[in-house]
Amino acid sequence: MAQLKTLFVCQSCGQSSPKWLGRCPGCGEWNSLVEEDHSTPMSLPVAGPAVSYSEVTAEDGIRVRTGNSEFDRVLGGGIVHGSLVLIGGEPGVGKSTLLLQISEALSGLGMKTLYVAGEESAQQIRLRGDRLGVKGARLFLSGETCLERAFQEAENVRPDVMIVDSIQTVYTQKLGSVPGSIGQIREAAGQLLTFAKREQIATFLIGHITKDGSLAGPKALEHLVDTVLYFEGERHNNQKIIRAVKNRFGPANELGIFKMTGRGLECVDNPSQLFLSERAAHVPGSVVLCAVEGSRPVLVEIQALVNQAGYGAGRRMANGVDPNRVALLLAMLEKRVGLSFATSDVYVNVVGGLNLTEPAVDLAVVMAIISSFRNRPLAKSTAVFGEVGLAGEIRAVNLPESRVKEAASLGFENVLAPAGNLPLAETVTGPKTIGCTAVNQCLDWLDTRD
Ligand code: TYD
Ligand code: MG
Repeated sequence: MAQLKTLFVCQSCGQSSPKWLGRCPGCGEWNSLVEEDHSTPMSLPVAGPAVSYSEVTAEDGIRVRTGNSEFDRVLGGGIVHGSLVLIGGEPGVGKSTLLLQISEALSGLGMKTLYVAGEESAQQIRLRGDRLGVKGARLFLSGETCLERAFQEAENVRPDVMIVDSIQTVYTQKLGSVPGSIGQIREAAGQLLTFAKREQIATFLIGHITKDGSLAGPKALEHLVDTVLYFEGERHNNQKIIRAVKNRFGPANELGIFKMTGRGLECVDNPSQLFLSERAAHVPGSVVLCAVEGSRPVLVEIQALVNQAGYGAGRRMANGVDPNRVALLLAMLEKRVGLSFATSDVYVNVVGGLNLTEPAVDLAVVMAIISSFRNRPLAKSTAVFGEVGLAGEIRAVNLPESRVKEAASLGFENVLAPAGNLPLAETVTGPKTIGCTAVNQCLDWLDTRD
């Protein structure tokens, strides 16, 4: 009997079929069959006998600082040998640009990079490199999209770092499906993982993702790779924010903040200054939040606009914060503060393209909404942070000193903080910290002077 090379396996129920089917006969799920390699029996690596925990050595010297401060920071301190890193983002956001710049930094450290380019020709990369001032002394370009041959190239070049641009364009000969299909992406990434670990080559996979994440490919790799970095925010924004969504070698949620210039991506050393640079001070609906993203405090502007709805029920829209959280805070404001938003449109926006998920944004959102609703700006030179509960109570959050310090460094004079955070927040010299226990208390901080 002929040996089957590949099987199509349902991702919902595990049923397999020798050919592709639009609908799984097992569970009835549509479009769930993905090609997988079953030509050879699975050969899993042998790990050897169990070792005593105390005998295991944790070497941290295997990390390379590239010298690009923001890139090192988001990776948790530099590139780890033999790690597999996925860098995702919308097309055109700057993924290829960043990695080309990193290859140049590595070159300066005497390290070799192999750039496997399925998307652009060597000439196109050279053109971009010239603009970025890339000399490429130790950079090798390969146009190979067949993975097996790319590995061959890597064996010849023996690089320290390999860049695969992009995971959607490479394919393995083991599968019959087209490059970019979920089966190919997964199999290719699996092989790259084995290769990276065996040869101790740090490997970066570039993956294209659309805004709503609808291009499921790279998302399916998140569990497999060591580190997942995503470009956040608007493609058209000059600020480029990279977030470590997952990191086996460092803190998750760490941010790298860059600015796209004519000479590529430049590190932003003082993000708070950048985020507040275009702020019109003292206008209703604008509040400065002391946020903490990853391990770094940043000041960002939260804007709210509350308008009379034109017709029927009001619209709610939130950008950069969870819309459900905003809905919840609005309900709390109706009940506890007695403001009615039934016939109002409410828009909330985080300036600069950051996505904020920490609870400390609550108080800033609430203050921005009240400020716009009442058409009164927040008192001058005031920043805020704190979680707000459904009873209108203000709850303590983590890292209060870092937040107040950041506000101090930009010259803010007052910080509205949860009362529970006061003991720590007060240790910072400079701004006056005002401890709040309930939202009602904060209303005094709206400016009443016209
Ligand atoms: P690119 O790295 O090609 O995006 P990706 O690989 O994520 O698809 O970035 C392309 C964008 O960056 C393009 O719109 C032009 C812009 N850019 C600059 O503004 N300055 C530069 O120096 C470079 C190289 C690109
Ligand atoms: Mg690219």
